[in-house]
Amino acid sequence: SSYQEAYRDQYHYSAQQNWLNDPNGLIKYDGVYHMFYQYNPNGNEWGNMSWGHATSTDLVHWKEQDVAIPESDDNAWVDFWMKTKDDAKPVHYIGRPTTNWDVWNPNGKRYIFSGSVILDKDNVAGFGKNTLIAYYTSTYQVAVRGDDYSNDPWGNLLGIREVQEQNMAYSTDGGKTFIKYNHQNPVIPVTQVPTGDTGNFRDPKVVYDEANKEWVMPLVSGQEVDIFTSTNLKDWTYQSAIQREHDVGNGVWECPELIPMKVKGTNQTKWVLSLSVQQGAPAGGSGMQYFIGDFDGKKFIPETNETIKNPQWLDYGEDFYAGVTFGETPGRTIMLGWMSNWNYVGEQKTSPWHGEMTLPRELTLVQNGEKGYVLKQTPVKEVNKLSQGTVRLGDRKINAVAKLDKTSPITEFSGTQYKVSAHFSWKNNQKPNRLGFKLRESEDGSKFIEVGYDPRNQLVYIDRTTDGENIPRKNSQVKLNGDPTSVKLTAYVDASSIEVFVNDGEKVLTQVAYPNPEHPLDTKKLSFFAGSGKVKITNAIGSHFK
Ligand code: FRU
Repeated sequence: SSYQEAYRDQYHYSAQQNWLNDPNGLIKYDGVYHMFYQYNPNGNEWGNMSWGHATSTDLVHWKEQDVAIPESDDNAWVDFWMKTKDDAKPVHYIGRPTTNWDVWNPNGKRYIFSGSVILDKDNVAGFGKNTLIAYYTSTYQVAVRGDDYSNDPWGNLLGIREVQEQNMAYSTDGGKTFIKYNHQNPVIPVTQVPTGDTGNFRDPKVVYDEANKEWVMPLVSGQEVDIFTSTNLKDWTYQSAIQREHDVGNGVWECPELIPMKVKGTNQTKWVLSLSVQQGAPAGGSGMQYFIGDFDGKKFIPETNETIKNPQWLDYGEDFYAGVTFGETPGRTIMLGWMSNWNYVGEQKTSPWHGEMTLPRELTLVQNGEKGYVLKQTPVKEVNKLSQGTVRLGDRKINAVAKLDKTSPITEFSGTQYKVSAHFSWKNNQKPNRLGFKLRESEDGSKFIEVGYDPRNQLVYIDRTTDGENIPRKNSQVKLNGDPTSVKLTAYVDASSIEVFVNDGEKVLTQVAYPNPEHPLDTKKLSFFAGSGKVKITNAIGSHFK
């Protein structure tokens, strides 16, 4: 691939070819940022899960590397008994592992699911100083049997089940290749799954707890986050669980993280628990929640005014998922996510690649009156390196008092990969019903995407119902606090994605889009617009991105 396809994002990471999903094992090591990720080396759909790999010296220009951890063809016989949440009595997990749900012709494979990488500076684990250690979930299926041997010497066949367990691998060549450690004896075997949900026990994210001098590993089992700790990186002890409350859909939880952060302007450390939920996000389907609290070495203790029922959301677009932060970036919390949603991921028909990452974002934890603490998010400052220079777009007023929709074209700026930003203000008695940008406009103006604000309902939104796509959407929206008389909108536009930062990172909406499918190259114009009111536009700038 030449990376020149019509919908190929140019400054967001995608693999040259094939499927990718979650970022894994983000870490800075020896001056280089490493991004591993869920990857199918053999196809453009989910499968053969392996850890792909890319590196960067500046967080914005990435170079694809060889697969770092391939799916495993470890076909060693599995043989253990356990009683899960669905069993009246223990059942026998016995046979060769498979990933094809076939009990008679198992293929002897284990997938490498999401996880994390840490730097073992002091050789705690015994693989050598400054070794990179990966923790990942090994996933396979295996036959389960009961203890009735009257018809079958193996016992009565009950079916085939998914098994997930936590494994460890280490790299002595700076992340190029990993050696699986004791693969048939996972560091946390499935028999230790706290909820008994053997098929949903995954996504270990290891972090060092300075205060308690131990390593902490949150991971999910079913619909809870379990916390394990270790002092030697190999033996892990179960400490506590955080349970969901049933108000955010029925999907499983995934990719949890405990992030120690300094509260901005203070010396106080708080812990952010972030997690991805497969269902129930504000824009529908999957999305990311977070909670602020403390960590006492065993338990996460949410702020008194927060509960697991009252999540804050990291992003209000449809496409920010499985986000995790980089290790070894002292003083900075940098997160990036997979720019998609399990709800409709199959509808994205790009080829020969499928899936891309969001821009890396810097997270800051700020004190915020009654809400306690909130995360602010801005693209990392390195993103400015992509800018080809700043163009002033001309401050202006739009008087649309008598009009449902008035467009003010930006003649000096167009394209499909840029940043655009402006400050919009209005008087309460001339409040428009909508205002903002029309992006990705066709030459004749009939097709476009709106990135806008509706002051009457106080909603920032991304509206794709007018961009010509087969499945028009207007799900991405977020309510602003109070009744503001101004809003700053900054959008990062790429070939098939838009990331909107509201008021310098107060709220974020991330959205993929495949505009004007019949003429995907005719999507370059850009305008301001307002309806039924008056708006003043100032500090309007654009920069083309390389
Ligand atoms: C999240 C997820 C993880 C899992 C991985 C598999 O998107 O479902 O829970 O480890 O993707 O590819």
